[in-house]
Amino acid sequence: MNLLSEIERVFPPRVISLLRRIGEIAEDRGQNVYLVGGVVRDIFLGVKNLDIDISIEGEGIEFARELARQLTGWVKAETRFGTAIVTFRGLPKVDVATCRREYYHSPGALPEVISSSIKNDLYRRDFTINAMAVKLNPARIGELVDFFGGRSDLKKGVVRSLHNRSFLDDPTRIFRAVRFAVRYNFCIETDTESLIKEATGRVIFDEITIERVRDELVHIFNEESVQQAIKKMAELHELKFIHPGIKLNPETETFLGELEEVISWFQSSFPGEKIKKWLSYFIALLDELTIDEAKITLKRFHFSEKQTKEAVRMKKSASGRLAALGRKESKPSEIYRQLRGLSVELLLFLMAKARGTARQRILLYLTKLRHVRLTISGEDLRKAGLSPGPEFATILNNMLLTKLDGCLETREDELIYVNSYLKEQRLKLSKLV
Ligand code: CTP
Repeated sequence: MNLLSEIERVFPPRVISLLRRIGEIAEDRGQNVYLVGGVVRDIFLGVKNLDIDISIEGEGIEFARELARQLTGWVKAETRFGTAIVTFRGLPKVDVATCRREYYHSPGALPEVISSSIKNDLYRRDFTINAMAVKLNPARIGELVDFFGGRSDLKKGVVRSLHNRSFLDDPTRIFRAVRFAVRYNFCIETDTESLIKEATGRVIFDEITIERVRDELVHIFNEESVQQAIKKMAELHELKFIHPGIKLNPETETFLGELEEVISWFQSSFPGEKIKKWLSYFIALLDELTIDEAKITLKRFHFSEKQTKEAVRMKKSASGRLAALGRKESKPSEIYRQLRGLSVELLLFLMAKARGTARQRILLYLTKLRHVRLTISGEDLRKAGLSPGPEFATILNNMLLTKLDGCLETREDELIYVNSYLKEQRLKLSKLV
């Protein structure tokens, strides 16, 4: 089967020229070169993917250097693994790997690599749908290489591992299986599912592998249907790797559903604002844990000091904030006071927890209040006769709260506020003297 016309449909012309040049350079060097991995899967699915992963039989790093030399790029090589990344101006980067066979000394350990053929290279991969290649050498450009039935599994909608040791060799694949199944609405093949369950009973993630688990969780929680993914993770006993205390009960499920709704509302209302959707989900999963358990989990997954502090603060204060936000009479400045300083990810988490009035008020904060700014600045205060200092921040803050309540509409109103504040201060001072 030849995929050249599909390739020409999904890639822009400059990328197709790049792929052709890769094939020609390899041919001149007497090497076979292939486009591999997720990009091949996505060509079939018609999904845009510009992750150009190349596998080459024989010397990979030398090939990468030649590619960079001929197309004016830069190479970053990792000799230990026989891999290199070539970057160019105005083109996607190219990940070059030497076709390899890998040996794992122990589950989850970094692999020992020896140079090999494309068949071995594909066999070491996670799932059949990710184990296809497309040849790039000029005479056979576009030819599909599919030893393990990837195309048929794509058609059937199945995530299937290639061999029994797959999840022990690389335990992060237990999360990847869920990611691909949910992303494409595929099912995980029965034997593969049993292998995952077996692996979840045996695998331990240590200090080194936890980073990769975190990366996989970030990927899953950034996918479209996170609620469904978490349900599948629970079914396959994967949530315990975040914390053994995390259970998926009907309330958590409802909460995750609310979070999904709130996040998609935010994304469609503020398309230009990029959020770390995964962070809201991660924090949501810690909701049932104690504060200490949540702290330990955040530290274990290498969350920054700031993120950990914020998340813990939210855990301690969420119900208090929601009660305050739900009170009958609440001025905008009070809403602002409850929510200011919180990251959007935490606000969305809180919004998903909130009901009725409290939710409406978080919505008001997100759509309006958080964008309110004063028109005057510290410079205007200085000109009005105030000396710079902590007082500046206090005045500006008080003015902002007044403005939120609709009492300062124009720049003139703000200047009048400053002047009357100054008068008041002077009056106080003269009384003291
Ligand atoms: N791979 C693997 N085992 C892993 C990670 C990756 O076998 N634990 C292989 C798969 O062949 C995969 C390829 O490396 O297709 C590239 O990995 P990655 O970029 O993580 O995944 P993609 O399949 O490209 O998925 P995505 O579309 O989410 O980027």
